[in-house]
Formats: sequence, structure tokens, C-alpha cells
Amino acid sequence: MQSVRVELGERSYDVVVGSGLLRDIGRQLSELTSFRRCALVVDQAIATTHGEAVRRALAASGFTVCEASFFASEENKNLHALEEICRTLLARDTARNTPLIALGGGITGDTAGFASAVYQRGTPFVQVPTTLLAMVDSSVGGKVAVNLDGSKNMIGAFHQPKRVLIDIDTLATLDSRELRCGLAECLKHGIIGDADLFSWTRERLPRLAALDPGSVQELVARNVAFKAAVVARDETEQGERALLNLGHTFGHAIEGCGGATRYKHGEAVAIGIAAATHFAVSRKLCAPEVLTEIESTFVAAGLPVRLELAATDSELIAEMYKDKKTKQQNLTLIVPRKIGECTMLRGVADAEVVRSWEYVRRADLTSNEG
Ligand code: GLY
Repeated sequence: MQSVRVELGERSYDVVVGSGLLRDIGRQLSELTSFRRCALVVDQAIATTHGEAVRRALAASGFTVCEASFFASEENKNLHALEEICRTLLARDTARNTPLIALGGGITGDTAGFASAVYQRGTPFVQVPTTLLAMVDSSVGGKVAVNLDGSKNMIGAFHQPKRVLIDIDTLATLDSRELRCGLAECLKHGIIGDADLFSWTRERLPRLAALDPGSVQELVARNVAFKAAVVARDETEQGERALLNLGHTFGHAIEGCGGATRYKHGEAVAIGIAAATHFAVSRKLCAPEVLTEIESTFVAAGLPVRLELAATDSELIAEMYKDKKTKQQNLTLIVPRKIGECTMLRGVADAEVVRSWEYVRRADLTSNEG
């Protein structure tokens, strides 16, 4: 078992990473509260598997549980689902000091976390992520939100958890495509600020795909530590934290233009990172070899770097303007300078962005010309 501290003054918390932690949840929660009531929001898809393990562990530690089941999908990550969770909490007389546990992937964590942020103006929150993507990214850092009218994470808050419990055993039942999506976020962290993490991950791809426990635990702990350090320096995204959105302006546009049915989030982000890197190469901010290295690593991880989507470039660009980094109609992009260093570009021209969309639509994988 390893513990990574997210240093945020009086809101600091531990992210505990290890094997068998679902069974330990009653003891972990007892360290955070002297009350014997808690709320549990669980993704329906795992309600009878991991949900049952958590229920049993909580009951064994004497907890009474108010449970809300949640159908985790991007469409259901909305204000209605938020209201339903809050209604369930209210119907069971859930008090403000009752901890709320989110059990599931990023969509469950974001929606349940937002309910925890707003129910009675805020309740203690515990994240128990069960997907690699949620473990290394969304469960750490306190961003909670729901979508509005097709725009991702438009209504939300910063609500830091009191603890994050990561049981790497839950990855054994995770779909391999979901696992690859988590790897996309790990490789993203390496590109943003840790070249050693990038090459370590690339070298261990076969062991990670085979879920070698030592490699998986190290992967999760290293990525949590990377994210924790960024969040500690810039909790509310005044600067550096925005770099974590590498590939997301292109990626969200793919998802928003009908790509969400074809691509999962991590896959859209992988294509988005290829597009953003192409953009950096065409501006001569980054060597063409970096683009080749990023693409070949993503391909080795089983991730797409080419876009197959009927949407036009203008539709994709219109969607990019919905990005939360866009200020006063100035399109903002995060782009790599090299593996381990990224930068933010403000006010980029649509015509330049079109060239990067055209690049990722190409069929070949070898070209890296700007
Ligand atoms: N997923 C990006 C962030 O937490 O800032």
C-alpha cells in the first residue's frame, strides 16, 4: 500500500493506492468520521460486484448506508441526475456531516462529487475510483461537475475529497479498452511534465496491459503524485493546472461533434494530443521527432491517433470555442515543446487549427511534416 499526500493546507488529503482496499473502506472511513452513517453513490454497472464488497465492508465497521444508484453515461451526467442523488439523500435525512462515497469511474465521481459539493452546501467526500482514468486523473484534484446542453463539465465546483481510495484490484474486471483510455491520460502526464514517466510507461506497456500488480501500482502512484503536485501548486486552475488539458480542446471537439459514439474519452484525447503536437510542430515550437515518438507510443498502447469522423473542420472548430479555456473568443491550446514540457498558446487562428485537423484525418501514420 502507498499513500500520496495532496498538499492543500487545511484541505490536504491522502490518496491511498493498493490492493484489497475496498475491503478496508470501513476502517478508512472510520479514520475520517466518528459518525456511523454514510452515503454511497455507485455506478449501476458495478453495484452487484464492487458495490457489494463496499456495502459489506461498511456494514462490518457498523456503518448505516444511504445508497443512490447512478447510471453512469455522458448523457446522464446532468443536472437531473444530480437532483435525483440529492433527493435520495434528503429522503433518507442525510445530514451535512455525513460522508458521501463515490464508487465508479470518472462520470460517477464527477456527478456524485458535485452532489457532495452542493447538498446542504457541502458534505465530506470520499472518492473510490474503479477505472484507471479516474484513478490517475479525475478522482484527484477536486474538480466535480455535470454537463449542460451537450457542453462538458459546464456546471461544477472545486470540492476536494477527504480521501481517495484506489483499489488496483478493481482494474482486473475493467474492459481493456477502458484500461487503454487510462493509459492515454498517464502518457499525457509524461508529455506535460515528466519525460521519465513517459519512457517508463512506454517500456512497461506489455506488463501494464497484462495487469502486472507491481507495475500497475507504480503507474497509479506515480501519476497520482504527478497530478497531486500540479494541483498543490495551482488548485483552481489559474495557470499551470490548465496544462493538464493537453489534447482536451481537440478531444472535446471530437466528442461534441458526434465522435463520442465512436471514441471513448481517452481515445479522443489521444487523437487530440496528436493534433496539438502537430500544431506545435507546424509552429516550429517542437521537433517533428516528438510527434513521431508520441504517435508511435500511443499506437503501441492501442490508442488511435487518426480521426475518422464525418464532422467538417468548421463544425469541429465551432465546438472548440466552447472550451472553458476560451476567453473572449480567443482560442487557447496546450501544446508540447518536447516530451516533458508543454506550453499554453492563446489567440490561435482558426486557419492554423484547420491544418492540424487535416493532419489527423490523414490515413498514413508515418508523416510528421508540419
Ligand atoms: N483533469 C484535469 C484537471 O483535473 O485539472
